[in-house]
Amino acid sequence: MGRVALVTGGSRGIGAAISKALKDAGYSVAANYAGNDDAANAFKDETGIAVYKWSVADYDACAEGIKKVEADLGPVEVLVNNAGITRDAMFHKMTSQQWTDVINTNLTGLFNMTHPVWPGMRDRKFGRVINISSVNGQKGQAGQANYSAAKSGDLGFTKALSQEGARAGITVNAICPGYIGTEMVRAIDEKVLNERILPQIPVGRLGEPEEIARCVLFLASDEAGFITGSTISANGGQFFV
Ligand code: CAA
Repeated sequence: MGRVALVTGGSRGIGAAISKALKDAGYSVAANYAGNDDAANAFKDETGIAVYKWSVADYDACAEGIKKVEADLGPVEVLVNNAGITRDAMFHKMTSQQWTDVINTNLTGLFNMTHPVWPGMRDRKFGRVINISSVNGQKGQAGQANYSAAKSGDLGFTKALSQEGARAGITVNAICPGYIGTEMVRAIDEKVLNERILPQIPVGRLGEPEEIARCVLFLASDEAGFITGSTISANGGQFFV
C-alpha cells in the first residue's frame, strides 16, 4: 500500500485534481470536503476515493475527522491543506463576517488540520505538509484583503513550521497557484476576469488544476526530503518572488 494522503477541499477544483493525481501515483487518499454533498458523492463514485465531511474551520471537527480517516486508512503521512473560500469585496464594503469566514477557513484551517497530525508525523519521523496558498497571498489583490491576508499568513506558517519539522523528517512547503480555471475563478465577473485579470498573465490563459497537482506530487515524494519551507509559484508568469 502507498502512503496515506489527506487532501482538504479534496473533492472539487484544484483539490479534486490533487486527490486524483495522488491516487494515480499509488497513495491511499482521503478527500475532505465541507458542504457540497452532491459534488463529493459524484467525485467518490467517479474516482473511488473516500470522502469525509467536516469544516477545516472547526478544530474539534478536524480532530474527529482525522481520527476517522486514520482508523480507515492508517496514519496520515501526507497532508495537503487545500481547502479555501473567497468572500471578495472592496475593503470599504467588507463585513466582519466576510473577514472572519476567510481567515477561519484559509488560515486557521491550517492550524486545525496540521496540529492533530503533527505528533504522529514527529513520532514516525516522516511527514509531508503541503499548503496551497495563492499568488494573491504573495502580491495582494484589491477586493481580497481577507483572502490575501490569510494566504500570506499561510506562507509564514509554512516557513515557521518547516524549521520545527526539519529534524523529524517532516517537510512543510507551500504552492502558490495563480488563476486556475476552477469554479472559484470562473465565479469572478466575466468582465473583471477578461479585462483586468487575464491581461496580467503572460502565458495568456488560466492554469489547469492538474498543473498544481503535479507540484503536489513532487513535494509529497520521499525524494523531496531536502526541500522544506519553500514556495512553488505556479502562476503563468503573473508574479515573481
Ligand atoms: N485595483 C484598484 N482599484 C480597483 C481594482 C484594482 N485591481 N479593481 C477594482 N478597483 C476599483 C474599481 O475601479 C472601482 O473604482 P470606482 O468606484 O472608482 O470606479 C472600485 O474599485 C469598485 O470596483 P468594482 O466595480 O469591481 O466593485 P464591485 O463591488 O462590483 O466588485 C469585487 C468588487 C467583487 C472585489 C470585484 O472587483 C472583483 O471580483 N475583483 C476580482 C477580485 C479577484 O481577483 N478575486 C480572485 C478570486 S479567485 C481566487 O482567489 C483564487 C486565487 O487564489 C487566485
